[in-house]
Amino acid sequence: MAAALQTNTRLNPINVVPGRSLTNPSRAPCRVRCAAASPGKKRFNIALLPGDGIGPEVISVAKNVLQQAGSLEGLEFNFQEMPVGGAALDLVGVPLPEESFAAAKQSDAILLGAIGGYKWDNNEKHLRPEMALFYLRRDLKVFANLRPATVLPQLVDASTLKREVAEGVDMMIVRELTGGIYFGEPRGIKTNENGEEVGFNTEFYAAHEIDRIARVAFETARKRRGKLCSVDKANVLDASILWRRRVTALASEYPDVELTHMYVDNAAMQLIRDPKQFDTIVTNNIFGDILSDEASMITGSIGMLPSASLGVSGPGLFEPIHGSAPDIAGQDKANPLATVLSAAMLLKYGLGEEKAAKRIEDAVLDTLNKGFRTGDIYSPGNKLVGCKEMGEEVLKSVDSKVTATV
Ligand SMILES: NC(=O)c1ccc[n+]([C@@H]2O[C@H](COP(=O)([O-])OP(=O)(O)OC[C@H]3O[C@@H](n4cnc5c(N)ncnc54)[C@H](O)[C@@H]3O)[C@@H](O)[C@H]2O)c1
Repeated sequence: MAAALQTNTRLNPINVVPGRSLTNPSRAPCRVRCAAASPGKKRFNIALLPGDGIGPEVISVAKNVLQQAGSLEGLEFNFQEMPVGGAALDLVGVPLPEESFAAAKQSDAILLGAIGGYKWDNNEKHLRPEMALFYLRRDLKVFANLRPATVLPQLVDASTLKREVAEGVDMMIVRELTGGIYFGEPRGIKTNENGEEVGFNTEFYAAHEIDRIARVAFETARKRRGKLCSVDKANVLDASILWRRRVTALASEYPDVELTHMYVDNAAMQLIRDPKQFDTIVTNNIFGDILSDEASMITGSIGMLPSASLGVSGPGLFEPIHGSAPDIAGQDKANPLATVLSAAMLLKYGLGEEKAAKRIEDAVLDTLNKGFRTGDIYSPGNKLVGCKEMGEEVLKSVDSKVTATV
């Protein structure tokens, strides 16, 4: 799948530039320029979008880890940090300024923290911080959202499920990200003929949208344990009937993958009853949104889960699945590991640098093996640390792995 979704391709000129320029509203978006790489080194442009709340805290950790793991594999990064979400609203009055979008679109990969917060909760819809995410996903055309949910042996006891249910869970949820009810038209709130307000949205999927996400899912399953479960609501929704028909038709191209179908209500139940039955799940935008958050709790904490959003070309968007956690922002309590693992996905799926990605994944496991835990994954007998210290420990583990393998 990495090949099918290789994201290093240079980019087309920007067509849609939501928002206003940080400096001059009439100015054309700037291209990110990078110096030539040092001899023997590969150089990549990375757009850093820290966002709001705990976003800047976890991005700062992940940036250091990315830099360190990359440098050990001969990679150099040119980081460009840009405001998005509430931070951008405060700065220029729009959630996704023109320059932030341009830097993201012209980068080789994007690492995003989180967006949103109490301060902007009452903003009008188009001025809500979360619109930045909506624009980024839509205009970068990152239709495939990969969300792994793995119960690490070190964190089995952090799961809300019984040990025997949680132990060994290792699944990948492939969520369609740029279609379905979140984007479908018509949508809105209006007053009907009885003078009553009605709100409405449209679940809409074209055949090509289903086919392309299904292919990503089949390819993903093929590289895992060869099992794909397609989740829909084909007993009720027409869009789901088409979904099931298209996914079923593609199965003949992947004879090595075992395809099953499940209704979403049953899937929500099965995820709690027997999550180990799942290998790869493919589903639409809204079901994927909900099921992946449910799956995250099986693993112990939303603070552990990374994600990758990929398109056919252009940069991928890599971000933890959690939000800006305003309740703990600025207190050095955030778990940075979801963002650190997102940096590993950036290396693996965004840049095709699997060795550097593995360095990060190994360093996270090593840090957990040494007993370091942030509050969200803490259990007695371990060492409680803050966001910064967790980052320092991961960095040490990245380094110690070098000593061990040189
Ligand atoms: N992708 C995104 O940027 C994204 C995703 C979800 C929500 N949001 C936004 O974030 C804001 C808060 O939303 P929410 O409270 O529903 O969800 P949230 O994910 O921010 O927080 C839910 C709970 O999990 C905890 N938590 C989250 N990440 C953590 C971490 N890394 N370490 C430790 N604990 C962590 C929080 O403290 C909170 O108790 C809202 O404005 C929402 O719109 C943004």
